[in-house]
Amino acid sequence: MAVPNGFIAYPLSKVHRLIEPGPVLMISTSDGKQANLMTNGFNMPVRHGGLIGFVLGPWDYSFEVLRDTGECVIAFPSAELAQQVVDVGNISGVETDKWAQFGLTPAESTSVAAPLVVECFANIECRVVDDQLVEDYGLWIVQAEHAWLDESKRGAGEIHHRGDGTFSENGDHIDLRYRMTKWPSLID
Ligand SMILES: Cc1cc2nc3c(=O)[nH]c(=O)nc-3n(C[C@H](O)[C@H](O)[C@H](O)COP(=O)(O)O)c2cc1C
Repeated sequence: MAVPNGFIAYPLSKVHRLIEPGPVLMISTSDGKQANLMTNGFNMPVRHGGLIGFVLGPWDYSFEVLRDTGECVIAFPSAELAQQVVDVGNISGVETDKWAQFGLTPAESTSVAAPLVVECFANIECRVVDDQLVEDYGLWIVQAEHAWLDESKRGAGEIHHRGDGTFSENGDHIDLRYRMTKWPSLID
C-alpha cells in the first residue's frame, strides 16, 4: 500500500466532516495514461460512512474519464491554494497537463488509478456506486474507499465558493457540541 508522505489514514466514519462544511474540491481522474484535475463546488455528504455526491457535467473532459473508469480522488485544497484551484477550473485537461502547469504533485493512490494531490490537506479515494442521476443532473454518487489527512497542510482550512468567483475562508468556529444531545456519536 502506497501511503503518501505526510498523510495518515483518516477513518471513513468521519469523512462527512470534510465534506459537510461545503468546500471547493478538486477531483482527480486518470484514464490509465494521463491523470487530470477539475474544480468542483457542487458537492455534499449523502450518508455517514463515506457516501458522497457531486455534480460533474459533460462539459468537463473529466466526465468521460469518470464514466469510463468509475474512479476518482476527491482532494481538499486549503485557502493557500485558492488561485491554482480557480485556474484548474478554468482550463480543460484536453489542452494542458494541469499538474505541471499549476505546480501540483500527483501521488499514487491505494485502490483507484486516479492520483492523490500531495499539496491538498485531505484526499479521498472514491468509486462510483450510483450513476442513475448522471444523465439528468450530472450527479454522481461515490463511495469513499480510503481517506488521507495531513493536518500540517490544512492552513486556514478549506475554501468556500460564493458562486460568483468570490470565495470565503473559515472564520471563528461556534462550538455547540453541548447541544447535540441527540447525536452523541458525531461529537467524539
Ligand atoms: C470555483 C469553481 C467551481 C466549479 N464547480 C464545478 C462543479 O461543481 N461541477 C462541474 O462540473 N464543473 C465545475 N467547475 C468547472 C470545471 O472545473 C471546469 O469545467 C474544468 O475546466 C473542467 O476540467 P476538465 O475539462 O479538464 O475536466 C467549477 C469551476 C470553478 C472555477
